[in-house]
Amino acid sequence: MSKKFVTLMLSVAIALLFAATCIYAGTEVADTFKMETKEYAKRTKSLAEFTHKDHIEKHKIACGDCHHDDKGKPLDLKMGDNVQKCVECHKETGKAPEGEKLGKKEKIVKYHEKAIHANCIDCHKESNKKAGDPKGKGPAPTSCNDCHPKQQ
Ligand code: HEC
Ligand code: HEC
Ligand code: HEC
Ligand code: HEC
Repeated sequence: MSKKFVTLMLSVAIALLFAATCIYAGTEVADTFKMETKEYAKRTKSLAEFTHKDHIEKHKIACGDCHHDDKGKPLDLKMGDNVQKCVECHKETGKAPEGEKLGKKEKIVKYHEKAIHANCIDCHKESNKKAGDPKGKGPAPTSCNDCHPKQQ
């Protein structure tokens, strides 16, 4: 085999490997979905809908306002990147044990529900204030029933 041929075959192999990783890498995300973190053993509320694509495109929110690294540092993402679920770090989906004393931030870091609510609701309140509602209600949903509609 000539050296040239081996080099050619080698680059073809590398190109194929690269193409294959491109197909398999990255995390898919639907434009709109109901959040249903499977780690919850028991649910008390109906599933909340999340307009992922509208938050990025219509509401002009940066990926890093919601997705961050293991130190809480905002991530500069683009579609097709690998993205972790919130529950991978905000792991606890059960109830707080009796007598547990944690600060607000510690609860957010530990409990999935607290992390989600702090992210969604804090921003909605801010955004509603900026939209002219001093109490921070509407148009972005802030009450339990807005996001967890009562099941019929
Ligand atoms: C307003 C908040 C918010 C913004 C902005 C946002 N995301 Fe997300 N994204 C979420 C939430 C919440 C989930 C659901 C995570 C979960 O289920 O734990 C999610 C899920 C994803 C997933 C799927 C993860 C999985 O394993 O199912 C990907 C991929 C993703 N986002 C990428 C992006 C990218 C890229 C951007 C910016 C272009 C972006 N997101 C902007 C909140 C946001
Ligand atoms: C890789 C681990 C990791 C993932 C994944 C992750 N977080 Fe966090 N998050 C953290 C850590 C660590 C902190 C605490 C950072 C600090 O100490 O300032 C944090 C902090 C927060 C805070 C509090 C911010 C503040 O400054 O008060 C919120 C709210 C939050 N995360 C929501 C989310 C949401 C929503 C998702 C999913 C879209 C998510 N996190 C995914 C690790 C993670
Ligand atoms: C950084 C800011 C920010 C975060 C974080 C955020 N939102 Fe929003 N959300 C908005 C804004 C802005 C609107 C549009 C309000 C308006 O109509 O003026 C909105 C609107 C909505 C709406 C109404 C439908 C729509 O897209 O207009 C739903 C439902 C919603 N958000 C769910 C969520 C959920 C669930 C989360 C957390 C997983 C979340 N949002 C996190 C800013 C945010
Ligand atoms: C902006 C939308 C939004 C608002 C407002 C909101 N939630 Fe949630 N809530 C969510 C999302 C998203 C989750 C995560 C569900 C998942 O990932 O499976 C969640 C999870 C929960 C969970 C844990 C899952 C379960 O069903 O047991 C509880 C409990 C809960 N919310 C109660 C409340 C209560 C009580 C209020 C009012 C004080 C409230 N939520 C307001 C969006 C919202």
